[in-house]
Amino acid sequence: MATQTRLSTGSDEDQRHARFDNELDSIRSAVEERIRSLLPAENGSTDLLTQAMRAATLSAGKRMRPLLLMLVARDLDCSTPGLVDVACAVEMVHAASLILDDMPCMDNAMLRRGKPTIHIQFGEDVAILASVALLSRAFSVLSSAEGISPFTRSRLVVTLAETVGAQGLVKGQFLDLRAGARQSPDEIAATNELKTGILLGVAVEMAAVVAQADDSVTRSLRAFALAAGQAFQLRDDFLDGPGNDSAVTGKDTGKDQGKATFINTLGLEEARRRLGAHLRDADRHLLAALGSKQRTRRYLGGLFAQYQPARHARPAPGQLAGRDQASGTRLGARFG
Ligand code: IPE
Ligand code: IPE
Ligand code: MG
Ligand code: MG
Ligand code: MG
Repeated sequence: MATQTRLSTGSDEDQRHARFDNELDSIRSAVEERIRSLLPAENGSTDLLTQAMRAATLSAGKRMRPLLLMLVARDLDCSTPGLVDVACAVEMVHAASLILDDMPCMDNAMLRRGKPTIHIQFGEDVAILASVALLSRAFSVLSSAEGISPFTRSRLVVTLAETVGAQGLVKGQFLDLRAGARQSPDEIAATNELKTGILLGVAVEMAAVVAQADDSVTRSLRAFALAAGQAFQLRDDFLDGPGNDSAVTGKDTGKDQGKATFINTLGLEEARRRLGAHLRDADRHLLAALGSKQRTRRYLGGLFAQYQPARHARPAPGQLAGRDQASGTRLGARFG
């Protein structure tokens, strides 16, 4: 999506929001442009594998993980050019996980980011292969990220590999699918951390590693991301429920029926209370890590605008989905 400069004639506050929205747009554009160049070019209409890889990564996602990585790095005053490659690697892992998550043997979803899911578009065989190819490309991108020392690159590779593997994302998905519909709140939180929180955790941790942040800052950033991850999975579970329209969220609703989500287990009100508590925890850890630096905080504030106490919320008519930025600006073609 092309970077767009918004004209603002409003208050200082409006201008600040407009500037920040433009910063987010420009990070998204840089990440998408780089992903385009890092993935294999399409070699004709029969090159389904490449088409599937590109469709899965470049469709209209929020780019939350790359944004968190880049904003945390900027808040840490780090602007190493190779950060964009690290952000692209995380987004490729995320896209690979969504391809598998949507397959008939998993959540059996038809719609993702407003388009038919990858296995519907290209077939299950191609979908699995595209997911594996994206994972593999993510690690090769990390291992050659520009301006980052070989030692740091190998640290990043190990960190991301452990995040994806049998004790990470893969285990989270396994528990989500197979642990059964009756889970304790602690068990649900553990699954949510593995399937969702740790990828946010690794994004901010990699920013901290590249920025050579102190260990205590890195620990606070990770704690921030895990709290934000709990809040984010709850937000996602709300989007699956009644009152949300697939045309707005860009994905099927009702896919969590029979699953051990907080909403199904504890009810809407308690889920909402927990979401608020996780956001407060996230904010506390962020303050400990970044002090008065505001980019990451502002982004989270926009993402969760509808869940903030009223005094912080900007006017946000309509559904949560499709509103993503600090200003509450409608996202047009981006979903969820
Ligand atoms: C969806 O993630 C999967 C979860 C971990 C909840 P996002 O809501 O970030 O999906 P996109 O990338 O914006 O499509
Ligand atoms: C997804 O959780 C977690 C991963 C893809 C790793 P969900 O299954 O709730 O995500 P959506 O709702 O399909 O995006
Ligand atoms: Mg799932
Ligand atoms: Mg799903
Ligand atoms: Mg969901």
